[in-house]
Amino acid sequence: MGYRVVVAGATGNVGREMLNILAERQFPVDEVAAVASRRSLGTEVSFGDKTLKTQDLDTFDFTGWDMALFAVGSEATKKYAPKAAKAGCVVIDNSSLYRYDPEVPLIVPEVNPQAIHGYAKKNIIANPNCSTAQLVVALKPLHDRARIKRVVVSTYQSVSGAGKEGMDELWDQTKSIYNPTSEVAPKKFTKQIAFNVIPHIDVFMEDGSTKEEWKMVVETKKIVDPKIKLTATCVRVPVFVGHAEAINIEFEDHLDEDEARDILREAPGVMVIDKREDGGYVTPAECVGDFATFISRIRQDSTIDNGLNLWCVSDNLRKGAALNAIQIAELLGREVLKKG
Ligand SMILES: NC(=O)c1ccc[n+]([C@@H]2O[C@H](COP(=O)([O-])OP(=O)(O)OC[C@H]3O[C@@H](n4cnc5c(N)ncnc54)[C@H](OP(=O)(O)O)[C@@H]3O)[C@@H](O)[C@H]2O)c1
Repeated sequence: MGYRVVVAGATGNVGREMLNILAERQFPVDEVAAVASRRSLGTEVSFGDKTLKTQDLDTFDFTGWDMALFAVGSEATKKYAPKAAKAGCVVIDNSSLYRYDPEVPLIVPEVNPQAIHGYAKKNIIANPNCSTAQLVVALKPLHDRARIKRVVVSTYQSVSGAGKEGMDELWDQTKSIYNPTSEVAPKKFTKQIAFNVIPHIDVFMEDGSTKEEWKMVVETKKIVDPKIKLTATCVRVPVFVGHAEAINIEFEDHLDEDEARDILREAPGVMVIDKREDGGYVTPAECVGDFATFISRIRQDSTIDNGLNLWCVSDNLRKGAALNAIQIAELLGREVLKKG
């Protein structure tokens, strides 16, 4: 006996990846429902070698479904996730709506799987922001060995992090630059994204940081350790899929680069590719479609006592969203629901 699973947002970037990954990992399903807005009613989406017809979230009855993987944005989540949870269907949500709610666990299964048991308070589990997910996979094994004091991170985030409209804008704008008769003005992004980089993701906060940067701070504290100090600069770059991060870490205890490399090689979800030669590191274009968080350029920072630099790359639609949600579903199945 397997699970009855709803994928809400099945026509979107993250929802389509969820369907792919459920099939790839042979998640034990009895039935899968693809759900999106009324606009997509009847639209066909792929699930392994099957085709599913999209249903309308507004009229969907969650009774009798075990889990709902939500990737519909905060507004629609606010309206429909409580309905699903109330019907007894456990919601695993990708939006930021519930991430900071003390009654909702925020989980990266390689880092804080023990938090799963907190799901029952609201029948909802939150998935972190894409840039946080890959960061904490890299930080946790190092923190366990040498206690992290402070992290300085700069992100290079792909346009797919802004949904399918973000990808279309980069594609159309890139073409329009070679064909100036069809200028594509910025709409999803605040400035031209083609052949450019933009140091602004999500809204501005009172202190001058952006909400994306704030999310990385608060989520790292909730998932790994509230004592970790973190400062971030989040930048949108003209890459379709795959986020990169340059991470500087200050530890309480000494940790040399060779030991750090060995620890990361053994860490769950991590793949170390770190050769000090041309091409001996991973770039976003190479991580697409992969499950791993890739770590390269591991080196001592000699400007502080216990410092390390590294480069971290992952598929934001996978580890940053769909894969992490399905790992949570697997964890929930293994630890709590125990079917399949
Ligand atoms: N992309 C990432 O890297 C990433 C990472 C982490 C978290 N997330 C989060 O995941 C969520 C989805 O992101 P995405 O990138 O997949 O966006 P997307 O490509 O724009 O897709 C949005 C999906 O939500 C559906 N939807 C929107 N409003 C709806 C409504 N009122 N009722 C029912 N369905 C509705 C859309 O259906 P229609 O096609 O019918 O409009 C579509 O299936 C967001 O909360 C985002 O913040 C994304």
